Amino acid sequence: MLEISGTLMVLGKASIGSGSKISIATNAVLTLGDDFLMTGRSSIICQKAISFGEHCLLSWDILIMDTDFHEILNQEDEIINLPKPIHIGTHVWIGCRTTILKGVDIADNTIIAACSTISCNVSKSNVIYGDNGRILKEGVRWLR
Ligand SMILES: CC(C)(COP(=O)(O)OP(=O)(O)OC[C@H]1O[C@@H](n2cnc3c(N)ncnc32)[C@H](O)[C@@H]1OP(=O)(O)O)[C@@H](O)C(=O)NCCC(=O)NCCS
Repeated sequence: MLEISGTLMVLGKASIGSGSKISIATNAVLTLGDDFLMTGRSSIICQKAISFGEHCLLSWDILIMDTDFHEILNQEDEIINLPKPIHIGTHVWIGCRTTILKGVDIADNTIIAACSTISCNVSKSNVIYGDNGRILKEGVRWLR
């Protein structure tokens, strides 16, 4: 399902499997690098900015969203959870059932293990990351 009120930029070839959802709010920008593959049943919810480098692979049942949808206020009534852009590098493989939350930056040539929740930056390349950005293995590369 495509709900596009903002901008979708596809910088080359992109393949989006069945049951996937892409939602882009007004003024938001989703950028897909060349050779983008979203296998199926995953969702990308973009209310600000989400970008993928080239050669990214999304497995199934993944959720990527740059907003929490509901505001959280501190004691001064300031919003503490504004939407924040997500950047996913080049040649990143995101394992099934993973959730990626607002503000996250994912380094090039990385793997996110299945069922991980990533809410912090993972900035080292050639690494397998698990839940909470825990490093599972280093010095690896993966093949499409
Ligand atoms: C990320 C992955 C590819 C790594 O495989 P691997 O290199 O063989 O990793 P290993 O099985 O040797 O595990 C290494 C360590 O990471 C841990 N680990 C592996 N996958 C994990 C996961 N999804 N969540 C948390 N920890 C995980 C292991 O328990 C092990 O921990 P230890 O060193 O403390 O014993 C694999 O675990 C995975 O998530 N596969 C699913 C990929 C997918 O979604 N495919 C769908 C088609 S696109």
